[in-house]
Amino acid sequence: MDTSTDRQPRGEISLQTIAMPADTNWNGDIFGGWLLAQMDLAGAVLARQRAQGRVATVAIDGMSFLQPVTVGTVISCYTEIVHCGHTSLQIAIEVWESVRLQGGARLLTEGRYTYVAIDEQGRKRALPADATNA
Ligand SMILES: CC(C)(COP(=O)(O)OP(=O)(O)OC[C@H]1O[C@@H](n2cnc3c(N)ncnc32)[C@H](O)[C@@H]1OP(=O)(O)O)[C@@H](O)C(=O)NCCC(=O)NCCS
Repeated sequence: MDTSTDRQPRGEISLQTIAMPADTNWNGDIFGGWLLAQMDLAGAVLARQRAQGRVATVAIDGMSFLQPVTVGTVISCYTEIVHCGHTSLQIAIEVWESVRLQGGARLLTEGRYTYVAIDEQGRKRALPADATNA
């Protein structure tokens, strides 16, 4: 697993937020499920933009929780499209700790989320022709 400080975030920042006390688990660290939700939101921001409308999450692959997250951590979710299909977009999402008083930025979590463009009835629809570059 590549967690070295040499690695740089890939993609664009789609979401930033702060880990709050209400998001902790029984160990006092942040719930993995909270991170999954933030990543889903971040990916949806990019997917909705490229799909020019509604999307639904259909799959989450390759999730790695690399570092524990503590209360007060400012996280940045970076997103990058890795595959654009007929109706679906696969987006690589990385969560980085934005600000540290000591040392460099830390990669906390990563995974690939797949979104499908849907219409008002929740049925899949074709992506716009320029979805990769929009
Ligand atoms: C999104 C939905 C409408 C898609 O309908 P569907 O008939 O299952 O669509 P398909 O099986 O033809 O797949 C559509 C696309 O998604 C991709 N896909 C489907 N399941 C996938 C999976 N597990 N992993 C990766 N891609 C997947 C297909 O490859 C296809 O891509 P393409 O059109 O770009 O080639 C339907 O699956 C759905 O409503 N799912 C629930 C979504 C949801 O509620 N999400 C929130 C979960 S809390």
